Amino acid sequence: MSLPFRHLTSTKQLTRSDTDAILTAAADMEKVIVKGGTDLLKGKILASLFYEPSTRTRLSFETAMHRLGGRVITADGLQFSSLYKGESIEDTMMVVGQYADIIAMRHPEQGSADRAAAVSPVPFINAGDGPGQHPTQALLDMFTILKERGTLDGIHITMVGDLKFGRTVHSLSFLLGLYKDVSFTLVSPKELKMPEKVTSFYKEKNITFTEVESIEEGLDADVLYMTRVQKERFTDSSEYERLKLKYILKASHVKGRDITVLHPLPRVGEIVTDVDQLTNAAYFRQVKNGVATRMALLAMLLGKL
Ligand code: NCD
Repeated sequence: MSLPFRHLTSTKQLTRSDTDAILTAAADMEKVIVKGGTDLLKGKILASLFYEPSTRTRLSFETAMHRLGGRVITADGLQFSSLYKGESIEDTMMVVGQYADIIAMRHPEQGSADRAAAVSPVPFINAGDGPGQHPTQALLDMFTILKERGTLDGIHITMVGDLKFGRTVHSLSFLLGLYKDVSFTLVSPKELKMPEKVTSFYKEKNITFTEVESIEEGLDADVLYMTRVQKERFTDSSEYERLKLKYILKASHVKGRDITVLHPLPRVGEIVTDVDQLTNAAYFRQVKNGVATRMALLAMLLGKL
């Protein structure tokens, strides 16, 4: 199925049928990976532009493109000279769009993805815009929930940690909210509560959500989505130090319970490593699912599926 848009900047663009189509294609891509890849995107070039640090997302996009037989050009990190020379996002897109067939970009400013998509001559994917959105992470989270729990309808998810600055929980809320009878328990310190842009969406869709301050109140759920406190978004470092490890998940929290633990990673102490041994721990499987999901999206946006 071809998607009814050329650029993906936000999960708010996606309908349930778009999401289902991407997840079905991702399941097919898993089989392609097992077979050693494909030449579907032979001759195509992905530009991966990372104005903000990233390991997983960048490597995952690049792996996805390689598995599809395409190639990658990349600019990342502090040596990304055009940003430091003061070039606008719009000009960067106009330039990179002359080289590549598709662009994935991460940028520290919320809204940067919309600005980029507005001028990009080729399909554009938001790989994280500050505290805004991270749609491909949400898609791979959905794929992981579907694989681990067998359904997306009826899921009760508990989101823990930095719900204010954590873009992954924003994007995932909008996507999971498209399914039937989903409910949310939100665990955060009051300083890092889920923003109004997301809670107003829950209200508008009549989605049940509860805001609490302890992890124990969120353990009666299907999915426990842990997040890192987003250090880079704080202006006051003492505030970060005070809030950074308010929630630490231990094996005793989930052992023996039918609850799947997800985390977009990197973790910086929120999940003790003892949890890794439990079947509940799905965060490394989640990482793997990112490649198949991004393969599906790249192929669809390039009109090859
Ligand atoms: C997340 C991100 O960048 O928003 N990580 C990721 O994409 N895998 C979460 C985070 O950085 O905490």
